[in-house]
Amino acid sequence: MKLFKKSESTEKSKIGPPSNESRRSFLLKLGLGGMLAGLAGFGFQSFRSLIPNVLYEPPQKFKIGIPSLLAEGVTFLEDKRLYVFKEGKSFYAISGACTHLGCTVKYTKLNQPKQVEIDGGKKTVPFEFHCPCHGSKFYADGTNYAGPAPRPLHWYKVEMSPDDGQLVVNLNDEVDQNFRLTV
Ligand code: FES
Repeated sequence: MKLFKKSESTEKSKIGPPSNESRRSFLLKLGLGGMLAGLAGFGFQSFRSLIPNVLYEPPQKFKIGIPSLLAEGVTFLEDKRLYVFKEGKSFYAISGACTHLGCTVKYTKLNQPKQVEIDGGKKTVPFEFHCPCHGSKFYADGTNYAGPAPRPLHWYKVEMSPDDGQLVVNLNDEVDQNFRLTV
């Protein structure tokens, strides 16, 4: 009889209302959980805002017209910052972006063609590219020879579109300085 009474009182203490201490601990955990969830949500939103929903990149491959309609000599495509050259039936394209910090280099016709040595070979240079920002200079083939530019100007592949016979420049396809498309 005595034993039964003791266990009854133990049960009562187990299922009774929670003590102040356990209630405080529960509320503390709840608060911490809420705060962590809020921080995680904020972090995710901040990270997500760095990624645009739509990526806009200008096309890297584009048509520049029918070969016969392109002017002999040099044509500057301002929006692409690209110099396109036509020498009779041959075509090639040189980037107008300086390899130092990316300013647009200027095509500069020389009063007199000059003889220069590039990679051990002599070449006649009728024009150059000059950068207005920090004074880098490039020979006609894009070779850098003065100023802080560390590399030659980039050359890009020119090809003929099979659809309509227009010239196509591909900025994803770099070629060397001997490249020519002959049509
Ligand atoms: S950007 Fe051309 S020399 Fe600096």
